[in-house]
Amino acid sequence: MGLQHLSRELMRRCDELGRVSDEPDRLTRTFRSPAMARANALVGGWMRDAGLEVREDAAFNLLGRWPCAGNPRAKTLLLGSHLDTVRDAGKYDGPLGVLTALAAVTALREAGAQLPFDIEVVGFSDEEGVRYQSTYLGSGALAGTLTKRALARIEEKDIERARRKRGELLAYAEVHIEQGPVLESRNLALGVVSGISGQTRVRVEFIGRAGHAGTTPMKGRRDALCAAAEFILAVEKIGVTATVGQIDARPGAGNVIPGHVTHSLDVRDFDDAKRRAVVEKLRRQAEAVAARRNVVLRWTVVQDTGRVACDPKLTRLLHDAASGHQAEVPSLPSGAGHDAAALAAVCPAAMLFVRCKGGVSHHPDESVKTGDVAKAITALRDFVLRLAHESF
Ligand code: GLV
Ligand code: MN
Ligand code: MN
Repeated sequence: MGLQHLSRELMRRCDELGRVSDEPDRLTRTFRSPAMARANALVGGWMRDAGLEVREDAAFNLLGRWPCAGNPRAKTLLLGSHLDTVRDAGKYDGPLGVLTALAAVTALREAGAQLPFDIEVVGFSDEEGVRYQSTYLGSGALAGTLTKRALARIEEKDIERARRKRGELLAYAEVHIEQGPVLESRNLALGVVSGISGQTRVRVEFIGRAGHAGTTPMKGRRDALCAAAEFILAVEKIGVTATVGQIDARPGAGNVIPGHVTHSLDVRDFDDAKRRAVVEKLRRQAEAVAARRNVVLRWTVVQDTGRVACDPKLTRLLHDAASGHQAEVPSLPSGAGHDAAALAAVCPAAMLFVRCKGGVSHHPDESVKTGDVAKAITALRDFVLRLAHESF
């Protein structure tokens, strides 16, 4: 199968996977949902067609193994990304990386490559964190980095069994859409990633008192939604990248004062100390709003992940492989989170970004070019060959 064919087939598969959804009119696939099970079955079938040994681990990650080294003690190179999505997602965030890995492995197998390590193509089960608000559930379980607090918040108590043995993983490489405008603005298909931004996610609750919208005097109300609204406008002005993307007002009727509001808070920055200081400042601001409005604040940090640097040596190999296709391969920081951030705790991790239209992501308009995808497949294939030739 030539590269043209592999890239066209990959695009067709992204279209097909893009229709595997928990909701009829938009793409939504979240951890352990029926659509996730269908996605794992579909991609697992493609992995089997490519000759891989397929299994799902205890964290519901899909793994397709090519034991190419023929040596039971050989280390494993992990290639992939995630198969879950946000709500009303685009079809490339995650699946592009899984299917590029599968296409590169197909190209290597068909060329009869002999490698000194085994390869596993992985489709992680939860990178977006929609189900539990905290992210990297699949990759964190595989890397063994999930905190006790994270484990306590989820129903799947067995996922710790997905943890891989110390020293078993040689490296992790992930292809992902850029989700930003830099490559497009520089008219380049590919870039390598220098590091991944840290993130804090908080569940914020304001608890006031519900009451009749028509009879309760405005003075003295304890309106939880007004408190949240005031706080959310403070979040917008805080001076780092911060977002409230989800809100729930209870009891939820037009003629009832909202008594209990729960909303998300997502704070990102490459400077961990600054991010943590900002989160603390926001907590104090939320407390001040709550005190002024006579409502109660509950502040639950559900995720606090530090900034992660990609491995310089592995990134250089990826850079050199991509250089075969474009004269200049820029190095970009990632404002988005990626499974590579979890894997970096246990093995060298590197990432390759692919240009996407308008930098749009987490939106159904996500779009990539078939020609760029062909370059990404070749670059990943060449990266594997370079890794095989290095004494890594
Ligand atoms: C994942 O896409 C994230 O950065 O939230
Ligand atoms: Mn992603
Ligand atoms: Mn995403």
